[in-house]
Amino acid sequence: MTREALTVGFDAGDGFLGRVRGSDIVRFRCGGRRFISITHPGYIDHVLHEARLKYVKSDEYEPIRAAAGINLLTDEGDSWAAHRGVLNPTFARRHLNGLVDLMIDPIQDVTAAVVSSTPFDMHEAMVRATLRVVANALFSQDFGPLVHSMNDLATRGLRRAEKLERLGLWGLMPRPVYDALVWCTFSGVRLPPPLREMQDITLALDAAVNAVIDDRLAHPTHSEDLLNVLLHADGANWPRQRVRDEALTFMLAGHETTANAMSWFWYLMALHPEARDRMLAEVDDVLGTSRPTADDLGKLPWTTACLQESQRYFSSVWVLARKAVTDDVVGGHHVRRGTTVVIPIHHIHHDPRWWPDPEKFDPGRFLGSGAKDRPRSAYLPFGGGRRICIGQSFALMEMVLIAAIMSQRFVFDLAPHYPVELEATLTLRPKHGLHLIGSERS
Ligand code: HEM
Repeated sequence: MTREALTVGFDAGDGFLGRVRGSDIVRFRCGGRRFISITHPGYIDHVLHEARLKYVKSDEYEPIRAAAGINLLTDEGDSWAAHRGVLNPTFARRHLNGLVDLMIDPIQDVTAAVVSSTPFDMHEAMVRATLRVVANALFSQDFGPLVHSMNDLATRGLRRAEKLERLGLWGLMPRPVYDALVWCTFSGVRLPPPLREMQDITLALDAAVNAVIDDRLAHPTHSEDLLNVLLHADGANWPRQRVRDEALTFMLAGHETTANAMSWFWYLMALHPEARDRMLAEVDDVLGTSRPTADDLGKLPWTTACLQESQRYFSSVWVLARKAVTDDVVGGHHVRRGTTVVIPIHHIHHDPRWWPDPEKFDPGRFLGSGAKDRPRSAYLPFGGGRRICIGQSFALMEMVLIAAIMSQRFVFDLAPHYPVELEATLTLRPKHGLHLIGSERS
């Protein structure tokens, strides 16, 4: 399938994006709920920055709350700020530099498993790589068999959540019904279909994360990894439930988005050999066949720009949503309390006002002064405002390492006869995986 067909496929498959095209603000109603979609960076600045206290995460985050409880992603207000304050230092650049070595080993293992000239599923490889990086760098563990079952669990979980979302189930259910479902999920009561599969997936993830925590409690360490920060946060002794909820969030949010971003990166590089060849030349110049160091990461500007452009082209998180907790005015338009404000990132990333010739894959947009001339909310792969992704620097570091290390050994092309199709669940994923052929470089 061609790049053009893919983009069209996404719009056709999701009529919502087609409807918001061409207008900076669109109102609509769905299942009795009021929505407003905003695409102008000035309006987005208002919601995510200036007026952020008037908004909370929307009901669309309820599936995450059901599976992973109250955590950094779903918490609000003072509680969110206090927990974020404790966790920020673990994701500060200075601390991350010390994690580079821990990221490299799993990436090298995944690279070593590629069989030259044989089609393989790069998306599955990226799930394994990113989950093992999180396991090694943040939990000092290997997550055992979970590494192999995670792709299937996440795929089924996201598809089921998306289906229920389309039925309007999440938005229509009041909080107490939700809480009752969550209680049932963990109490042994079997939920009816279509909720039963969600229950099974939630229980499997719960068992996995509890095993990780129990193992650490049984074998304490002095490591400064994320798990020890969660267990001994500022001597604050977070309740076990909160530790479990945060750990699960970091396991999921820490790998799924990055795996998708990397899959789209490899796909776009295979479609654009000239950009890919320039990346291979840069990697050869800077690294040769040596093991990368933290210092090398800043010396790979083209590789980094290719990753940034691929995140523009196919943003792993393709839409954000907030709920107004009080009346507001956005760009002169009244927003009533209770309205869900939708920020369609994919659409904003393809708006010709900020991205001339938007369907062209052009990493040069991220080199030189180009980035400074763009409004800050025209590029939102990691969200924006105070709720911006805490793992942004972690992810960028990891992605440059994956791109560089795998390119030291292989050049990847699309495997013929395997379909590539976008699937827009909570994240933008390759529906049938991504089948590539790696050719060993001499
Ligand atoms: C390419 C990879 C990634 C992408 C595209 C991404 C994207 C995002 C986005 C868009 C948000 C904001 C959601 C919102 O405002 O509603 C977010 C939040 C978050 N992300 Fe990421 N993320 C990535 C990697 C990571 C990693 C590696 C981690 C952890 C190791 C992580 C953990 C989180 C957490 C905990 C939040 C909630 C932050 C808060 O509200 O304080 N993410 N991410």
